[in-house]
Amino acid sequence: MHIAHYASLSLVLLGVTADGLRAQTPADRLVVERLHVPAMPTHMDQADLLAEVQAGRGADAFLRAFLHGDALFDTAFNELDGVGANVGTGMRFTRMPRADLIAPGQWARHFPPRATGPNAQSCIACHAAPVPDGGGPVTANAVRDPRRAGVAGQMIQRNTPHLFGMGAVQLLAEEMTMALHAQREQLRANVMQSRRSASVALVAKGVSFGTLRGDYTPTSNSVVFRTSFVTGVDGDLVVRPFQWKGSVATVRDFNRGACHNEIGMQAVELVGHGVDGDGDRVVNELSVGDLTAMTMYVAAQPRPVTTLEMSQLGLGAGVSFQQVIRVQNGEALFRQVGCTDCHKPSMELDAAIFREPSAHPSYRDTIFPAGQSPAAESVRADAPVAFDLTADQPQNRFVVNGRVVNLGALKRSSTGKAVVSLYGDLKRHRMGAGLAESVDETGSGADTFLTENLWGVGSTAPYLHDGRATTIAEAILWHGGEALASRDAFRALTELQQRDMIDFLNSLVLVKGGVPFGG
Ligand code: HEC
Ligand code: HEC
Repeated sequence: MHIAHYASLSLVLLGVTADGLRAQTPADRLVVERLHVPAMPTHMDQADLLAEVQAGRGADAFLRAFLHGDALFDTAFNELDGVGANVGTGMRFTRMPRADLIAPGQWARHFPPRATGPNAQSCIACHAAPVPDGGGPVTANAVRDPRRAGVAGQMIQRNTPHLFGMGAVQLLAEEMTMALHAQREQLRANVMQSRRSASVALVAKGVSFGTLRGDYTPTSNSVVFRTSFVTGVDGDLVVRPFQWKGSVATVRDFNRGACHNEIGMQAVELVGHGVDGDGDRVVNELSVGDLTAMTMYVAAQPRPVTTLEMSQLGLGAGVSFQQVIRVQNGEALFRQVGCTDCHKPSMELDAAIFREPSAHPSYRDTIFPAGQSPAAESVRADAPVAFDLTADQPQNRFVVNGRVVNLGALKRSSTGKAVVSLYGDLKRHRMGAGLAESVDETGSGADTFLTENLWGVGSTAPYLHDGRATTIAEAILWHGGEALASRDAFRALTELQQRDMIDFLNSLVLVKGGVPFGG
């Protein structure tokens, strides 16, 4: 009783009110409301999307969601939308995690707990280089304090990656997870049949994830799985392809977190209907439909392209014959020195339809973080908003010789499968002490990172998880740990060979443009 009393007393002395931002009284808020409007005029209604899908107008639902998501991504939200948070003294945004602000409703007690920020008014404030939805400069780095210690030396920072081709990345992860789960079930069946312990080498899309052991337990007549020799993926064998450390499985989950952490826009599925988790006096900042829309927008971002394919289509700056030879030689060397052990040039999808919610249970919410049932919120796996990754991306449709070429869509292989040229393996690797962070944020090792997909790498300096590498050569030379041998092999190349390899990497680029949708 006494302690609580003192606490509120000291807050009053500091001029901090427990219910909101100091700088603004409710009366001030009314002034703002009279003079301004929210930056977001409407919310997307998930029930409308569902009705459209159920009425057989899935293509319309997708396009409407995409356009709304595009608008949300670009909007600089304002006070009336509930952007930012109560950072304690009314500052609303902070680039520095504030573990010191512990009064009710302040940074450290936000619901859910903050990981960073709020850092910006819009998504596009960071994901903008060199084209919209691209990466970010070091000024757009996100600073996090995983231990909530408020100690600068224990904070980590991350560079902003590009968001191209995200839908394809999630689908690859889904199919790899299905393969790994099938191998686990096969092992279970074998062990149960033989009643003897056994092991299986886990492999998905040509990527090895170590060995899973299944021990037969006679007392319960069941199998206990041992994951100590499983590598590069969590013990549940769910491939999580997002975040530098590979800790997030779905675009929706990432976006939901980014809305809260980066821009202080809280989704009702994160905090609940009518709940003000970030102390800014606004509730219901983003609807379930808004999150679906942002998910479709990010998932349907065009794939990165190459300067060679642009040149072949007569688009872009054009590439000389000599340059083509150098790039091709550089790609051969990239394989030769073992970069492709991790940066696998391409993987194929068995099915190229992105669905939100996903058909795969590990890639959709069983229950939303705030406790709602997705189905009750009209998010239904039997009627998802969907699009075809080989055809439907609305952006990067270019007119070539009077014909529309959809450069945003995935190509198909000779066998008709969608090809994802990601130059990655969606697997985590130990990268050596030089790249280790001061804090092991996700428990997978301080020096462990997901292989960064190199598609688009020619457009996304600076490089590496914290943006320390201003050039591609530096990024390569920082490789250690599992990548030591290939780093040394790169060092051992002649200068001309090294130049060719960098030319090759610089040929993997991001473009954004083309004709308006439907053109
Ligand atoms: C302050 C800059 C900043 C803002 C604003 C920002 N992001 Fe990001 N974004 C980042 C950083 C940094 C990462 C990498 C985070 C990590 O891996 O630790 C990232 C990663 C992502 C990823 C995962 C990409 C991948 O390949 O792993 C998605 C998706 C994403 N952001 C979406 C959004 C959306 C949607 C918004 C707006 C709600 C947004 N971001 C706002 C900086 C930002
Ligand atoms: C053992 C796996 C592995 C091998 C082998 C490997 N890499 Fe990487 N690469 C990674 C990981 C993991 C990262 C992300 C590291 C980080 O951010 O700290 C990365 C990052 C990069 C980046 C920076 C990308 C960006 O957007 O920031 C470049 C460029 C790169 N690698 C090129 C190469 C080249 C060239 C080779 C061969 C000489 C190579 N890599 C070999 C795993 C590997």
